[in-house]
Amino acid sequence: MKITIKEIAKEANVSIATVSLVINKKDKNITDITRNKVLEVVEKYNYIPNSMAGSLVTQRTHIIGLILPDITNPFFPGIARGAEDKANESGYSIIFCDTDDNVDVQEKYIESLTSKMADGIIIAHSSNSEKMSEILKRCKVPIILIDRDFYSENVCGKVLVDNLEGAYKAISYLISNGYKNIAYLSGSLKTRTAQDRLNGYKKALKNNGLTYNEKLVKFGEYKIEWGRKGVNNLLQENENFDAIFCGNDLIAIGAMKELKENGYSIPEDFGVMGYDDIYMASLVEPSLTTIRQPNYKMGYQAMELLLENLNQIGKNHNNRFSDIKTITLETEIVERDSIIAIRR
Ligand code: RIB
Repeated sequence: MKITIKEIAKEANVSIATVSLVINKKDKNITDITRNKVLEVVEKYNYIPNSMAGSLVTQRTHIIGLILPDITNPFFPGIARGAEDKANESGYSIIFCDTDDNVDVQEKYIESLTSKMADGIIIAHSSNSEKMSEILKRCKVPIILIDRDFYSENVCGKVLVDNLEGAYKAISYLISNGYKNIAYLSGSLKTRTAQDRLNGYKKALKNNGLTYNEKLVKFGEYKIEWGRKGVNNLLQENENFDAIFCGNDLIAIGAMKELKENGYSIPEDFGVMGYDDIYMASLVEPSLTTIRQPNYKMGYQAMELLLENLNQIGKNHNNRFSDIKTITLETEIVERDSIIAIRR
């Protein structure tokens, strides 16, 4: 019959938790005598720990769920890489979930991660966030929000950038280069990132004495195809514009493609600016001027913050968090060839 961790502990005359710590190599505070006693019994019965059984004792699976909205967008793999590196450094594994920007898929993933006893979840929510409050409220494991902010009391921390400030920086940069009629092709307004970038756009126009023209602002999604469609909308409306600020680099890449297919030159006819600084931004022709988000650092620090909270739960033996910590990272302008200084 298969020996259990309880029987191992009894024969070694130690607690179940001590056996679990020795098996999981988390035994730095255990004496050599105790460790050897446990290992002798483990070897005697050729005990193979059942990882789930071990978790039931230590309440830890050392698994973290990472839920992102669109893995085909190169912005998000950078987040995943940062989170994974910190997880590996700390003896944790990641289960990665791509919601394809679908809130129902997102709900399914949160429920299955919780039932598989993930120790915690890091989530950049889908664009469709209507059900987010209910979903987050029901989640039984600690949650860290990353990139896309959302009000919820059931969140233990956030790692974000200041998107209002990032867009303000971008528009001020365009204006300082002589652009005065700046269009904005936005991502989904159901994301806080798009809402904040719109407010940054408006604030920069106002602070520079330029009027907000709603005909120059189009709302879509964070996709290349929307960049193409948005340019067509702008061209058809025949409103005067000299530059396009895009909600992310994929929109900007689609916008540049559509402008060139309509016979325009960039930046000679129109300036184009993006947001994210994905690897493709430096490879397209002309290379894309954009706002860099530190996505790797965002992922790494989100994992770090979650593990800090898990350790805090472990110490306090409770499931509530003393304070919800928000880390706000810096964005920066990356100057490339899709913007030039225009003299008037
Ligand atoms: O590129 C995807 C966009 O959605 C990024 O700007 C990121 O901030 C996310 O919100």
